[in-house]
Amino acid sequence: MRPAPLLLLLSQAPLLLLLLLISGCLNTCGAIQWLGLYKLEARADRPVQSNFCQAMQSRMIFDLSQAKFCKKWTRRAAKAAIVSSLIEASKQTLALCQQQFRGFRWNCGVLEHVPELAPELRTLTAEQALVHAMSGFVLATTLANDCARGVIANCPCGAEPRWLRARWPEVRFSLEGCHTNLRMGQRLARQFLGFAGKRKRARRRRPRGRRTVKTFDRFVKKVNRHNYRVGIRATKHSEAVRCKCHGSSASCTIRTCHKVLHQRGIQMIPSAYVRRYEDDPIDFLINLYDKQNLRRTIFDERGYQGYEERCTEADRQAGSNPLAAKPLCESYKVVPGLPRASVLLFKEHSLDYCSRREDVYPGTSNRECLPDGSPEAQQILASDTGERRREILCSVMCCGRPYRNVTVSYPGNHPDCKAKSCRLLQNPFRVDCQPCVLSKSFCS
Ligand SMILES: *[C@@H]1O[C@H](CO)[C@@H](O)[C@H](O)[C@H]1NC(C)=O
Repeated sequence: MRPAPLLLLLSQAPLLLLLLLISGCLNTCGAIQWLGLYKLEARADRPVQSNFCQAMQSRMIFDLSQAKFCKKWTRRAAKAAIVSSLIEASKQTLALCQQQFRGFRWNCGVLEHVPELAPELRTLTAEQALVHAMSGFVLATTLANDCARGVIANCPCGAEPRWLRARWPEVRFSLEGCHTNLRMGQRLARQFLGFAGKRKRARRRRPRGRRTVKTFDRFVKKVNRHNYRVGIRATKHSEAVRCKCHGSSASCTIRTCHKVLHQRGIQMIPSAYVRRYEDDPIDFLINLYDKQNLRRTIFDERGYQGYEERCTEADRQAGSNPLAAKPLCESYKVVPGLPRASVLLFKEHSLDYCSRREDVYPGTSNRECLPDGSPEAQQILASDTGERRREILCSVMCCGRPYRNVTVSYPGNHPDCKAKSCRLLQNPFRVDCQPCVLSKSFCS
């Protein structure tokens, strides 16, 4: 007997549901699954397997346009080249994010599960926005540096940094080598992420902010794209040159320099001249996570309406004039279009990240924190660095649960030990680091 069509359909229901879930995610997850590349080994000197791009796509790591980009570039070059840059960028995004967010309740640990997405990476949360911005930044930086290093084939050197002489007219610089091509890095990053060139067309066709975005999927893409762009644009903060002195050792009359992009904080590069000292790119990225740099988007049954902005004094005055047609602006107004400023967009409010989610993603148990009474904590409380940075205090990190004090012994070469217990010996010259015992606190 033939089964009835309906029965057949029912027996396939789990599969159908799965397909629906997957395709639903494809549209709304926002294509950060490429960070799942971090588990692979980056080897620029090896050929890529012929089915690599296809395999990444079927493992949900690449979306369709990323797989196309991958195919185009691996067809052109025999070696892994750009693929190794992508892998490197994913590794560095994870390392950077986890290192920088140690002191926050949300510590970026969920990226280790990608392409599996934690709940906060499936919707438009501040955390998802931050991951987009940070990975866009690292991707553009890595591609620009690899381009200059000759890793990526057919990638030209960048222009001489003119800002250098304009900013330090009194210093004699001699520039050498292949300069980092920041523009190329940014362009390749946009191409890989699937939105190269679209902005120019859009700009010509319509004044900013007029067209409404109707469907939710397109709205999600638009928000993700904006957040990626903020990160990619931030790479301009990291243009620098690294110099060597010539002439008698003290005078340093001529410096030979080559252009670099840095992403680990200015203080990490000795003898560097940085384009914009005031904006350390890392501080810039972390500050984006603070509430004042996040804007909530409004999407309703009419489509995308815009993003919220605090009312200014002028708005309040215009509203209080009974003759003006403007509605009263009490706390927030909705601004159509996308913000020009480097602010991140979100829609869903974040979880508190205190407790375990979906049995997989840990809360703040066993996380390190600073006792509120400690001098370091007092320093944070006294400074005006934003609300989020206070999350490292035990009272915030542990979400009201108790914490325990533990003394831990570290070997002399441990990073937490180095600052405290290293000294320079005279004879013979060497740095001697003693093991150290530190008192640490952990949430229960
Ligand atoms: C942990 O140590 C800090 C000082 O570092 C102290 O203020 C605090 O009371 C201690 N807390 C516990 C639970 O022992």
